Amino acid sequence: MSIIVTGGAGFIGSNFVLDWLAQSDEMVINLDKLSYAGNLENLSSLQGNSSHQFVKGDIADTNLLVALFAQYQPRAVINFAAESHVDRSILGPGEFVQTNIVGTFNLLEAVRAYWGALPAVQKTAFRFLHVSTDEVYGSLAPDAPAFTETHRYEPNSPYSASKAASDHLVRAYHHTYGLPVLTTNCSNNYGPYHFPEKLIPLMIVNALAGKPLPVYGDGQQVRDWLYVKDHCSAIRRVLEGGTLGDVYNVGGWNEKPNLEIVQTVCALLDELRPRADGVSYAEQVTYVTDRPGHDRRYAIDASKIERELNWKPAETFSTGIRKTVEWYLANESWVANVQSGSYRDWVTANYVERQA
Ligand code: NAD
Ligand code: TYD
Repeated sequence: MSIIVTGGAGFIGSNFVLDWLAQSDEMVINLDKLSYAGNLENLSSLQGNSSHQFVKGDIADTNLLVALFAQYQPRAVINFAAESHVDRSILGPGEFVQTNIVGTFNLLEAVRAYWGALPAVQKTAFRFLHVSTDEVYGSLAPDAPAFTETHRYEPNSPYSASKAASDHLVRAYHHTYGLPVLTTNCSNNYGPYHFPEKLIPLMIVNALAGKPLPVYGDGQQVRDWLYVKDHCSAIRRVLEGGTLGDVYNVGGWNEKPNLEIVQTVCALLDELRPRADGVSYAEQVTYVTDRPGHDRRYAIDASKIERELNWKPAETFSTGIRKTVEWYLANESWVANVQSGSYRDWVTANYVERQA
């Protein structure tokens, strides 16, 4: 038996593959095109593990997909592959349309052809799990109830619009062709191997480098944070027991304004790696020009997955963020290796024009 994971060299995908192979010897075929966000170093502990087969390739490459399905006969496909950063989608939306919409469409077509030709028993057992985001639901007013699975789609960024389109395609393939799909819509993740263009790892890395900590706008935008390994356990639960065609919202019941997140990171660094001058890292906070169209608040109502699949996060925010800061302090060479020329080009593109 085997599963195909797409995007398994990225942040969440690599955590998923590592957790999967720590608990099972079922083979993982990891298809990733190694964009700027894909990093084989995340998977270095799997060297020599014959249950992990890495394939460099694009989810939009139909010929490659057909060959992979024929060779490995997977019982499931879990689709993490995506362009995932809102700020990049603002500066260059084209890649988001290509991977998140066209790529998902090509993947669905290849899966449909493979699944349609399976013998009855394998056909019934097969699953396509699509990993999506709470951002498809748009922005919440401060006192509005959290997003349920039936909240209307109101995506506001090119990233969330492209993910929304992919979710709709996945839904349509179930309703039209009977494809056995499952969709998860998760809140903001954090944890090991998080590329330092996203809020939490960027703040850790910049703080340690003595650089400004760029808070967009007033820093009062609210996100709901989930430790990445809890997201991985939720995906495994949905894969095992989810109702075909259903959507499961996944979240940590951890709504926090960005400024509080940054202050928490600074306080942990003050404790674990204090600045030589004794001043708090919080002194490095710098308010900068806001993100255009910035969603004010996301919040996930995760009661369906808890009720139906008995899933709950294992980490609280305070345990998860401590583990995360400790991981970055213990993995400085990983951080140094991802700060390549293209990373520096991104930092220039996104931050130099922002007024302090
Ligand atoms: P990431 O950007 O860290 O990783 C994405 C991975 O996909 C990279 O390894 C990249 O090389 C690969 N990839 C990109 N385009 C590809 C293509 N065309 N073909 C094959 N591989 C390709 O993203 P992430 O944070 O790990 O997110 C994974 C998934 O989870 C995404 O679908 C994202 O929308 C979703 N999600 C992320 C979060 C979050 O907080 N990070 C929250 C909810 C949902
Ligand atoms: P991010 O990690 O990019 O995730 P998302 O936009 O998908 O929620 O950003 C999280 C929040 O942090 C978001 O409200 C934007 C804000 N933010 C900053 O204030 N400064 C930064 O440098 C970054 C990258 C994000």
